[in-house]
Amino acid sequence: MTRPILDLDDRDDGHVNPSREPTIADLIEARMNRRTVLKGVVAAGMCGLFGGTLPTPGATTRSARSVPGFTEIGRSLDETTHVAPGYDVQVLIRWGDPIHTSGPPFRPGQQTAAEQEVQFGMDNDFIAFMPLPHASRTSDRGLLCVNHERNTAHLSWPKMSPGNYASRMTRERCEVEMASQGHTVIEIARAGNAWHLVADSRYNRRITCRSTAIRISGPAAGHERLKTRVDPAGMRVMGTLNNCAGGVTPWGTVLTAEENFHLYFIGKSKQEREAAAWKRYGIDGRGIYLWGRYFERFNLDREPNEPNRFGWIVEIDPYDPQSTPVKRTALGRCKHECATTAVSHDGRVAVYSGDDERMEYVYKFVTRGQYDPSRPAANRELLDEGTLYVAKFEENGKMRWLPLVFGEGPLTAANGFRSQADVAIEARRAADLLGATPMDRPEDVEANPLTGHIYVVMTYNDGRKADQLNVANPRAPNYCGHIIEIAPPTVDGKPDHTATECTWGFFLLGGDPVNPKHHARYRASVTPNGWLCRPDNVAFDPKGRIWIATDGQDDSVGFADSVYAAETSGERRGITRCFFSAPRGAEICGPAFTPDGTTLFLAIQHPGDEKGSTFDQPSTRWPDFKDGMPPRPSVIAITKADGGEIGS
Ligand code: FEO
Ligand code: CA
Ligand code: CA
Repeated sequence: MTRPILDLDDRDDGHVNPSREPTIADLIEARMNRRTVLKGVVAAGMCGLFGGTLPTPGATTRSARSVPGFTEIGRSLDETTHVAPGYDVQVLIRWGDPIHTSGPPFRPGQQTAAEQEVQFGMDNDFIAFMPLPHASRTSDRGLLCVNHERNTAHLSWPKMSPGNYASRMTRERCEVEMASQGHTVIEIARAGNAWHLVADSRYNRRITCRSTAIRISGPAAGHERLKTRVDPAGMRVMGTLNNCAGGVTPWGTVLTAEENFHLYFIGKSKQEREAAAWKRYGIDGRGIYLWGRYFERFNLDREPNEPNRFGWIVEIDPYDPQSTPVKRTALGRCKHECATTAVSHDGRVAVYSGDDERMEYVYKFVTRGQYDPSRPAANRELLDEGTLYVAKFEENGKMRWLPLVFGEGPLTAANGFRSQADVAIEARRAADLLGATPMDRPEDVEANPLTGHIYVVMTYNDGRKADQLNVANPRAPNYCGHIIEIAPPTVDGKPDHTATECTWGFFLLGGDPVNPKHHARYRASVTPNGWLCRPDNVAFDPKGRIWIATDGQDDSVGFADSVYAAETSGERRGITRCFFSAPRGAEICGPAFTPDGTTLFLAIQHPGDEKGSTFDQPSTRWPDFKDGMPPRPSVIAITKADGGEIGS
């Protein structure tokens, strides 16, 4: 049972007023006169909270010193994008654009699955820029690897609304959805400031839930709970779905995270064996997608093991267009948000991931083997063996990574675990038993390449109650999200990502600092346009500065989702400033820089997705602005007019 730390409804604490510049520790200290439960929190607050005093690895001598050089933009909520003066926004590729030279053109409202299979997918999310040639740092030619998370049916089909979705979906439309989710690999090249698709590239490829066979590896491969009628060996699954954020490995593959897989299963199986696991993952047979009406593997009555084949991290080799993607079950099964790698001091590789749901956990996997650039073949199976951990934040500024290892602690047959496969398949329940810290929708987890510090982004949690507060999630409800910074210990000046004990602090608590309901906290004053709400996906530029994309500012504080930049060290650490804003209804995903920092790619996901907005009457027709053309999720490329580094 966690105890209250800050209660937003307990106004007798006074307000969080930025003009007084109190720290969260001040607030807590004030309450300590009445409550004695908080001394550990104060310690956490003093250790790195807003002050930048977390221990930094030797590498921080290279840490950022310059302030992002752009003129901050104002708030917006309109039909198009806005960017800081002196920057250009180019729409690089849109949902429905053919990815091959002779591909079929987009036919809004009439698309077929066969067409969608060779067109850019819908609702783009994670973006990786993979330089060409492989292992170079080229910044004007590369592979753009993009996830496609979801479908917005009422913006896809005529005469459809959320209210009549069930009656207007057909088998054909479900197949289009299956073809639109997954992943796209395209070659792109830059000429001057303009990027273009290389349509005749041999690398261009779609990976979909409808047609791409995926190998299963790791402890759950071949397990009874993964066997189905079409795959009696439990070794091969058709496709990947709900691909949210992701990551890139040091050996040049892309990791894509399967997030909300529970939305795809309908039916009510009589069998009881998986009932508890289904409950823990929110698989209630009601689904949202109707694929199970037409494809029995998504019907729990017909194929009760199919859900166990989703919720994994999938590894894709974009440099080999014939390669079979692999579901790496050693990394555990949850609603994975991302899979961020960091090479540790000794060459072992950590993969960090959030489980994006209210009160869920943050995970990391550490490989048993070491990454060796001179042995590319050996690196290929690194993600099959290692240790999965879950995060527990403590009250003394320390946090622990608790191992999810079969046979250790409570993870035994007495609790229903018969092997590491069971632990991986039911990672959430294993983490429950270990006492992991329930977080406020842990979304992106990213490593600062200069310092090795890990940034964990909590989007928000409006459902957290006062009696559910904990040290790492100090607001109930949490309307505006927050960012935690974890500092791993160092060995010879290099971050030790294998460590099971780290220090942590808050980087920022999102929200409007002058709105007492938000209890927002920044290290110092932010401008009226610079505060953010609902941080979601982040990226670091080559100078180690953080660029934060939001998801849900429109719903929560009434203006468009935006991208903010902040220093991660020095006097201006954590003071966010607004660089870009999206068209109405969109969230912003996938921020990714070229290695030289001169292009920032952003995924504009579900533009025009707001109440009352439909295919026939959308609230924006971005980016085409043509009659009859719905809003189209697209990847944009932002460059500086003078060709320089973003933020220089
Ligand atoms: Fe792409 Fe966690 O949503
Ligand atoms: Ca996101
Ligand atoms: Ca999100």
